[in-house]
Amino acid sequence: MRLQLASWPEVEAYLKQSKGIMMPIGSTEQHGPTGLIGTDAITVETIAWRTGEMLDALVGPTISVGMAHHHMEFPGSMTLKPSTLVAVIRDYVQSLASHGFERFLFVNGHGGNVPTIGSAFYEIYQDQRQAHGAGAAELRCRVVNWWDGPSVKALSDELFGDRQGSHATPSEVSVAAFAYPGHIKHARLDPPLAPSGRFYDARDYRRRFPDGRIGSDPSKASEAHGKRLTNAAAADLADCYRQFLAEV
Ligand code: NI
Repeated sequence: MRLQLASWPEVEAYLKQSKGIMMPIGSTEQHGPTGLIGTDAITVETIAWRTGEMLDALVGPTISVGMAHHHMEFPGSMTLKPSTLVAVIRDYVQSLASHGFERFLFVNGHGGNVPTIGSAFYEIYQDQRQAHGAGAAELRCRVVNWWDGPSVKALSDELFGDRQGSHATPSEVSVAAFAYPGHIKHARLDPPLAPSGRFYDARDYRRRFPDGRIGSDPSKASEAHGKRLTNAAAADLADCYRQFLAEV
């Protein structure tokens, strides 16, 4: 069930059964010459919505813009400063916590968000402690990257091997193509396998990775692969969410 497609009495009834919610968090940033700018938000909401249907679990609104400073030399990319993203995550969680939600599983689509998400969790815990003291509800927040689950990882390895890379990967391009059939872009990728390596700021990124990809060959992406990857990732996420709610 998606929060945005629910009514308030439905949410009230849900809270009598569960205190948990999944929160998709992505990014709005270049994904090479063939990947959609919205890839990181599209992938996580596609997967989280599917898991939500499987488990009858609520999925919050997607945080679609993340921390993507390093992509800002490419037109269309957007970023929140880390401090802004911390504030956004904190406000999302605290809004929902005020209604009784206590378990927040952030389903992440962008590696660049991870340190900031972790910082936000500690701000939330600290606020909770200061505002409500010993009697406060015990909020728990976790983050999981959609590509890290055991089945989706095995499937990505099987389908793409060393063509996967780390940005504008054939896996994420496939999931976005499955979510929005017909939107996959066609462009010549030169070289077919993008360079790999570290980078510093946005200008340095563009210098080292001129078409935006890192280590990947997204020409291997397809809607059919996207369907399989989505199903695998949703199954992994379902396991993760169940375990998270069952933790003592
Ligand atoms: Ni991505």
